[in-house]
Amino acid sequence: MTLPLVGEGVDRADGPAKVTGAARYAGDFAQSGLAHAVMITSTIARGRIRSIESEHARREKGVLAVLTHENAPRVHPEGDVDAFVLSLLQDDTVRYDREPIGVVVAESLESALRAAALVDVSYEEQRPVTSIESSTDRYSPEEIFGDPANVTRGDPERAFASAPVQLKHTYSTPVEHHNPMEPHATLASWEGDRLTVHDATQGVTNVRKRLAAVFHIPPENIRVLSPFLGGGFGCKGGVWSHVALAAMAARAVDRPVKLVLTREQMFGSVGFRPRTIQDIAIGAGRDGRIASIAHDVLSQTSVFDEFVESSALATKILYAVPNVRTTHALARVNAATPTYMRAPGEASGTFALESAMDELAYELGMDPIELRLRNYAEIDPDEGKPFSSKHLRECYALGAEQIAWKERSAEPRSMRNGRLLVGMGMATATYPANRVSASASVSLDADGRAIVKSGTQDLGTGSYTICAQIAAQVLGVPFERVTVELGDTDLPTAPLSAGSWTAASVGSAVHEAASKLRAALEEGKKAPLEMRADCKADWGGKYSKHAFGAQFARVEVDPDTGEVRVRKMIGAFAAGRILNRKTTRSQLLGGMVFGIGMALHEETRHDARTGRVTNASLGEYLLPVHADVGSMEAHIVQEDDPHVNPIGVKGVGEIGATGSAAAVANAVYHATGVRVRDLPITLGKLLSTLQEA
Ligand code: MOS
Repeated sequence: MTLPLVGEGVDRADGPAKVTGAARYAGDFAQSGLAHAVMITSTIARGRIRSIESEHARREKGVLAVLTHENAPRVHPEGDVDAFVLSLLQDDTVRYDREPIGVVVAESLESALRAAALVDVSYEEQRPVTSIESSTDRYSPEEIFGDPANVTRGDPERAFASAPVQLKHTYSTPVEHHNPMEPHATLASWEGDRLTVHDATQGVTNVRKRLAAVFHIPPENIRVLSPFLGGGFGCKGGVWSHVALAAMAARAVDRPVKLVLTREQMFGSVGFRPRTIQDIAIGAGRDGRIASIAHDVLSQTSVFDEFVESSALATKILYAVPNVRTTHALARVNAATPTYMRAPGEASGTFALESAMDELAYELGMDPIELRLRNYAEIDPDEGKPFSSKHLRECYALGAEQIAWKERSAEPRSMRNGRLLVGMGMATATYPANRVSASASVSLDADGRAIVKSGTQDLGTGSYTICAQIAAQVLGVPFERVTVELGDTDLPTAPLSAGSWTAASVGSAVHEAASKLRAALEEGKKAPLEMRADCKADWGGKYSKHAFGAQFARVEVDPDTGEVRVRKMIGAFAAGRILNRKTTRSQLLGGMVFGIGMALHEETRHDARTGRVTNASLGEYLLPVHADVGSMEAHIVQEDDPHVNPIGVKGVGEIGATGSAAAVANAVYHATGVRVRDLPITLGKLLSTLQEA
């Protein structure tokens, strides 16, 4: 199979629509008779509503309804268990800060906002558990993604005890919120018992399923559309309370209702990356060969649901280590339920593991790349299977060359640029090459125009573009002659856009449908023609499937103020076939920026007494801006993988966000001699130690 468009930087198929404003996002849709809903959210993290006074709000001009637990329709979700954990105004309990406790519907957004501010709520507050450390409600989850949560191979305790070099440290990562530019938004309208929903979601099928469960209607009665997304990063993978509340409100006022979350509400009911505390113990020989790694993760979940940040998963496969223990434990906190956030597990987990590897390299007096090469896993050490492909060595070499690694002096705090301390650090990146079931259809009309249809979503990653490329290539029609329709439950069913699996899963389905169509044409059938492919997931099998990469950072630190500047970041990645260099590069760079944010800026803070988020705005929740990023390059190592899936694609949505925080943290250590193991590396944490050093 040849895909000559590969390697080309084909422009985004949806680019013109986006820059001209023709692309419509969930919050952009309007309908005649549209009413506007605003959520009222709790101002305590734990307790109950003593009273909720809404008469003033109801009398406000333009107000159509005020829904609270006192008058909201009762729902009894069936089938879908996750629907039970939504906040659908069914009782007076408050379980987390900014939990939805009411909805105001009005003729205009302004009226709804004004009325919402008039609703007077009094609470019976209980003392919340506000941190992992203070939580006594801890347990071990049974599994993560169907695999055991705790895994041991060999005898890690014994190997550690007898190792000449022993390293044991605790690393921690804070709560982070996804904060896509586009907030969550839902527009719901009913016609009898048929429901149409425009939703900012990474999974139209899941939204349909959840709403069917909540409202007891057949899924076929529900159409969900999500043609464009302004980012998601995982928070739009869940089907949260506001989606059902918008539909509930639309039914209550018998009009279409639009509900858009405020930026502050983005810190409430729509998930976040949980805080983790990770203990790592590595036992090694003086030659750098690692005998044992233990990686024990404690992360937070809510009091009413379970989410596991799978931070130790990558530790099982990253190095050829005979004795390994990986465990995941949970502590219940009075906060909302966490969720997947870009490279869930791998992003937080590689910070800890790759920081520990860096510490080991200094302990041994060995180059950090050399240490990793000494422990290079030729086969998957966990499953004992060959990798479908692995070019991590080449990534280390390319990255090292591009960052000029040989200029790095071995000693920490030994490089300077004027009065600034200079440091260089590196880390390994890794993410599984997932593939899940997906369907697509491809049709060709008599004028030679092709249409691709699939109920997947484009988060901004480039799904429209790669689907068009694949169909154009297989059918031999010009790229411009291919139209792609996505983000609609009326289209062939496709999975959640998540797990870095869309290109592999949907791309394979488009490839198969287009190939069938081509075969039919070659048999002499004439357009118009349409073919469909329903591709199955390919978990398991003979090969272990992962993408790998190497991250490098060069930083400068002001020794007096502790200010860290990332001057340069280089990533080198091997991720199978690259369908489009432009969109791939954007994905990888975006992930690397996430790494800078994780290392230096991002942190959702909570009041230790009340459990309330204290920095619920983009003014106070710090994200990297251009000035924080410096020069950044993502390089691709050519990788032909005949085993991973029919189109040889591994996916690039998340790997850029792995290893990147560790590379920055390791560079900061190299610059300063100060190891900050608790992210983010703030001025305060750095400065207090820096001045002693
Ligand atoms: Mo991604 S965190 O798998 O949406």
